[in-house]
Amino acid sequence: MGVNTESKGRLNVILASPVDGDAVARLADLHDVVSAFDDFGGHLPDLLEDREVLVVRSGVEIDAQLMDLAPKLALIVRAGSGFDNIDLDHAQRRGIRVVRIPGPAAEAVAEFTLGLILATSRRIVLADGLVRQGRWPKPSLGGPLLAGKVLGVVGVGNIGTRVAELAVALGMNVIGCVEPGLAWEPPPHVRAGTLDEVLRGSDIVTIHTPLTDATLKLIGASQLAVMASGAYLINTSRGGVVDEEALYDALASGRLAGAALDVHEYEGTGVIPRLADLSNVVLTPHIGGMALESQKEIGKRLVDLVAAFVAGDLDTEARATELLA
Ligand code: 3PG
Repeated sequence: MGVNTESKGRLNVILASPVDGDAVARLADLHDVVSAFDDFGGHLPDLLEDREVLVVRSGVEIDAQLMDLAPKLALIVRAGSGFDNIDLDHAQRRGIRVVRIPGPAAEAVAEFTLGLILATSRRIVLADGLVRQGRWPKPSLGGPLLAGKVLGVVGVGNIGTRVAELAVALGMNVIGCVEPGLAWEPPPHVRAGTLDEVLRGSDIVTIHTPLTDATLKLIGASQLAVMASGAYLINTSRGGVVDEEALYDALASGRLAGAALDVHEYEGTGVIPRLADLSNVVLTPHIGGMALESQKEIGKRLVDLVAAFVAGDLDTEARATELLA
């Protein structure tokens, strides 16, 4: 560990991503807090030298080079779940503790996934745009009922399980799988299948795997090719899990009926994805976890984790969230 926290209650904290305002105020009462997210982390390298705690969400790459600009860095808190943007091996080599707060956003992402399923299958976003143009093309705006349809969940973890529960409440049947190589016990309302069976057998496929070496481009041209004709694809996991070019082709050719993506190959860079050319696609800016209560809870746990770190009791506190170091 790069800092003796037990003899020092006030830490130098850097926020690489925005977190709940109350949490920022509480941290700032106790610590020296600087923010580096006004330009998507552009100032981050210049502000790291004396920082001991780094708070980060998706969209900022915390690689070895960046970590090494912070020789005193002792703790990284991922204020959320996915830490594909953090070089965990390098953190371990450096003795930097890494914790995340995965629980509170799971419900938020699950509910949002249902929203995206409805938005794309019932063409809600498209219809909204047409009404705003003074148009009323009701006969062309039909879409399928969800009741009685099959939802395929790729990645039946915390979020995928909750999505499945919500889908069952709507009268859907659920088939699911986990990422390659993982052992699992399917929850009672989910029929277990292989990835291939999930893709072939579903009217709607929703992705909930983390982004790892094993899931990078997990859904590419050949996976999309086995999906049922007229099916929908929803991705609220990570952009890298789906090959966007292959998805564009599957949608533009009319093989797939629609898609909704909350996560993208390029996020926050100003790059407009080619998928934006298609009217059967709904695109949102990685807001699945942005339910207000979830962000408030993440903020509270963040403050508690930093306090526990100062008290030399990080492990106990982190066990309540899930420690990864
Ligand atoms: C997560 O990994 O927790 C979700 O994708 C939300 O990510 P965010 O904290 O960057 O909004």
